[in-house]
Amino acid sequence: MADADASEAKHYAADVPMRSEPFFLKGSNNLDWGMKNRLAAIFNPSSGRTVMLAFDHGYFLGPTSGLERVDLNIVPLIRYADTLMLTRGILRTSIPPTYSRGIVLRASGGPSILKELSNEEIAVSIDEAIRLNVAAMAVQVFIGGEYETRSVHNMTRLVDMGNRHGIATLAVTAVGKDMVRDAKYMRLATRMCAELGATYVKTYYVEQGFETVTAACPVPIVIAGGKKLPESEALQLAHNAIQQGAAGVDMGRNIFQSEAPVAMIQAVRSVVHENLSPNEAYDLYLELKEGGEDSFDS
Ligand code: 5RP
Repeated sequence: MADADASEAKHYAADVPMRSEPFFLKGSNNLDWGMKNRLAAIFNPSSGRTVMLAFDHGYFLGPTSGLERVDLNIVPLIRYADTLMLTRGILRTSIPPTYSRGIVLRASGGPSILKELSNEEIAVSIDEAIRLNVAAMAVQVFIGGEYETRSVHNMTRLVDMGNRHGIATLAVTAVGKDMVRDAKYMRLATRMCAELGATYVKTYYVEQGFETVTAACPVPIVIAGGKKLPESEALQLAHNAIQQGAAGVDMGRNIFQSEAPVAMIQAVRSVVHENLSPNEAYDLYLELKEGGEDSFDS
């Protein structure tokens, strides 16, 4: 049996108020400890931002360019990401379970590119999400789409299930081909997702008024990279979004379809976490591309 504590010298520091620090992420202060802990595995607590490596595209696109072999093309990149966004099939088959950052699990699906994409259902159970130890579940929300209400309902059901277990919900605002991608639409879509409970929201960057989109959304916004651009333009896009209030990027094709993906993801990190200018980040990209692609100390 341990000795009873006989010391008279106690240090209660009764005159020092207990520390009570706000959580670093926008709109997240009133979440529970488990949820905050998971969010800290998605967002870097030092910068308050994230580089999400997105490679869930196969859930409706199949083996798109750059994702033919996740084991060969993506696994070498994962050490540079703050978090991975992927499906459970790829997680189980291709990602080493020693990966210790957050997992953002694609949790909606159904239609392929051959059909109406907004006709999605929830595609994973909460038991499965817990079993896979994920930090967040990602769900597509099609504001203005044919199955708008269904997709919003998918999101609110995932929010309810996730909140019960401290798992975050990422609402992914999907913009139909015929819709105008402007700040007015993005404000509507992102604000609806936040009001209906999303922990954070992914959207697209828009050239005019993106700062009004981030200002009007009470939870963090990350931007999708979208279609492959020249590397310098993708870095400019990331820079603009971050400087206008985005809390990170959820980038796929502009990294894994790059000529030098390992160099590109590090250049993206420098924009997101170190506020490098697009030119400085592009120089870093070229330097890493030519010099063996590694500057990272993980
Ligand atoms: C697919 C997605 C992607 O994860 C998202 O669009 C990010 O990838 P990219 O940068 O290639 O656009 O949600 O539905």
